[in-house]
Amino acid sequence: MRATASAPGKVILFGEHFVVKDQPAIAVAVSLRAYVTATLLKEKTIRVYSRNLALSREYTLPPADDKNPLYPVAHAAFTVLNKLGAYHGISIEIDSEIPPSAGMGSSAAVSVATIAATAKAMGEDLRLEEISRMAYEAERIVHGRPSGIDNTIATYGGAIAYRKSEGFLRLNVDFKDVSLILADTGKPRSTGLLVKRVLDLYDAFPSVLEPIYYAAGRLAVEAAKMMERGDWEAVGALMNVNHGLLSAIGVSTIELEQIVYAAREAGALGAKLTGAGGGGYAVILCKRDHEGKIIEELRKVSPRLLKLNVENTGVSTSL
Ligand code: MEV
Repeated sequence: MRATASAPGKVILFGEHFVVKDQPAIAVAVSLRAYVTATLLKEKTIRVYSRNLALSREYTLPPADDKNPLYPVAHAAFTVLNKLGAYHGISIEIDSEIPPSAGMGSSAAVSVATIAATAKAMGEDLRLEEISRMAYEAERIVHGRPSGIDNTIATYGGAIAYRKSEGFLRLNVDFKDVSLILADTGKPRSTGLLVKRVLDLYDAFPSVLEPIYYAAGRLAVEAAKMMERGDWEAVGALMNVNHGLLSAIGVSTIELEQIVYAAREAGALGAKLTGAGGGGYAVILCKRDHEGKIIEELRKVSPRLLKLNVENTGVSTSL
């Protein structure tokens, strides 16, 4: 039996890092997807092949952590085989449109699609809640202490407000008047290391960092209201404040600052780093009719621009 599944990448619009310590955050799924084909094997092995990374790896069962970037995928597939009581192995082929190590949820989308495809190849449709929970376990291997926002948005799609202790709430937002542009710094980075660095800073100065975290949480709550109201000037202003808070906790870089300021000077409503920072991408919000001018200016400071739509479809499977 063979099945395919896909799951979307994401952009965090508000609250990355702060969400790790239980502040609310906002994410949207975007129109780039990770595709996974799962094929049952007679042998008791898990074979993983990533077209994008040009990497392949074969694991005996249960797979042992070898620090290979494909291990979390093997672990995710094994969790499903184990849960469904399989006596066989599986081959997992990954083909993803989401740039890796860029803050756009590539690893979570691959885990979500792997779990859904493996179950489907075994004739089972897992509940979305189960897929998301199992993908969270794979994310823990990749990032150490994830908040759970990435696996949640990859599973459910759309626009969500998320809080670690409370789960997620769907936001009802109409994006027709605005564009989301993603501008690459050209520098990949590790989410796990950045999350650890920020948590170490928090532990060193809790009384200083706590009010910054609280402000970020209030900001995300206010932003959710403004997004649902379609007050994009306010959303942009709050994105700029959020970027300032992320700079304060040390995850911005010169390249990100150049992109963010170039976008604002060209008339963007708001601009901020997105995801863990330290490189990766900035997200720029602009009115649809200003998009051309902003893209022209961003080309001078970014090697790669992506214009993305919000994706309402979360994980999806087919035989
Ligand atoms: C990663 O996409 C966003 C971070 O907030 C980490 C997490 O939430 O797990 C930096």
